[in-house]
Amino acid sequence: MQAFPRSVLATGVQKRAQSRLLARRAVSIPSAYTALTLAKSRATFRGEMAETKSSSRKRIAVIPGDGIGKEVVPEAVKVLKAAAAAGGREIALTEFDWGADRYLRDGTTLPADAPEMFRRDYDAILLGALGDPRVPGNQHGADILIGLRFKLDLYVNARPCVLFDQRLTPLKGRAEKDINTWVIRENTEGLYAGVGGFFKKGTADEIAMQEDINTRKGVERIIRYAFDFARRQGFNRVCMSDKSNALAFGHDLWQRVFKEVRREYPGIESSHMYIDNLLMQMVRDPSQFQVIVTCNLFGDIASDLGAGLIGGLGLTPSGNIHPGQVSLFEPVHGSAPDIAGKNIANPIGAVLAAGMMCEYLGWAKEARAMEDAVRAAIREGKTTKDLGGSLGTRDAGDWLANKVASV
Ligand code: NAD
Ligand code: IPM
Ligand code: MN
Repeated sequence: MQAFPRSVLATGVQKRAQSRLLARRAVSIPSAYTALTLAKSRATFRGEMAETKSSSRKRIAVIPGDGIGKEVVPEAVKVLKAAAAAGGREIALTEFDWGADRYLRDGTTLPADAPEMFRRDYDAILLGALGDPRVPGNQHGADILIGLRFKLDLYVNARPCVLFDQRLTPLKGRAEKDINTWVIRENTEGLYAGVGGFFKKGTADEIAMQEDINTRKGVERIIRYAFDFARRQGFNRVCMSDKSNALAFGHDLWQRVFKEVRREYPGIESSHMYIDNLLMQMVRDPSQFQVIVTCNLFGDIASDLGAGLIGGLGLTPSGNIHPGQVSLFEPVHGSAPDIAGKNIANPIGAVLAAGMMCEYLGWAKEARAMEDAVRAAIREGKTTKDLGGSLGTRDAGDWLANKVASV
């Protein structure tokens, strides 16, 4: 993966005040530590992040969540701390115990004042995963994860599909240069808007409705973000994917907005593919894609398919971003109940998510160190078994933390 583009991400806003109410609910990680020296970032910012911000103390909310979230997030935190220490950075971490256990104990999902608290008191959020077989329908997950995406207006979900090592792809004859794509997923509307309902529920005449919400503003800002992202990242191709042949209203809007916005980016080649064909083409020839922009649901699906092309869900990070505002970083994968509690989950997706978060905060050097450590681990086989290694989750995290500390 290329380190996340600085000018896109490096826009976190420093916020200071402490939330008393939620701090009481939070479990504190006693890990705020002060650096003796403040390293100057060697990142080439392109204007959005002042150096003073990039070298100041950052406040991170940590939500491990459920299942393997509780195993991979501590490893990501370990690596993050090692990177911050090596770079002379100051970081304050506060853990929130939101997840299935808490929900089943006292009904807490996302406290009503949480979005405001995050906006006011934090620079970024690091999340594991939410989902537990004891909570059918994943109500707490929807409240917390979808709730934060919507209430913090994190309209971009940026998900890389970048091959680190050709041994990891199931595609025959493909190498690193062939798989370097970013899925830019709309993250605040579409079929996820929660607009709908039941009529005559539980009867033979039941009707279940789930509305697909596409707003002019929402579609335009994500498409524009994708073009800006491509330009800043040095890409020259953007593909918009929809299903306008069947969804004649909502995705007609995507068509019209795409045609308008792309005129503003003459240097970037733009194309369109229906989502069914796009997924087939990603498998057949991923090298044709650089930036894919699509709606909420299709982006969710395309990013899991992308993960399958580069070595699996254990490897993929994502950023839920509103440029310039507090944003949330998480692995693409879920809570993986099938492997939870066995110390076999791959922590790399979570570590790279923490790396994306560093990039967002303006800590480009630390982000690069984390990514370099991941590349080294893969090269040297110091991985969990999903990537062919023999390390457990904790040992894989230790290896990455040591690597980051030693550079
Ligand atoms: P999943 O991503 O949890 O797991 C899919 C498959 O990938 C499983 O076989 C799992 O073992 C494997 N896998 C996932 N992460 C891995 C890792 N780090 N290392 C090794 N293997 C890994 O998807 P699912 O099984 O469809 O969902 C399980 C639960 O997670 C559900 O409740 C779902 O709603 C939830 N979920 C949450 C998020 C999130 O919080 N962002 C994302 C996806 C799914
Ligand atoms: C993801 C997940 C979520 C989504 C679920 C848990 C609601 O699959 O982050 O990819 O669909 O966005
Ligand atoms: Mn998903």
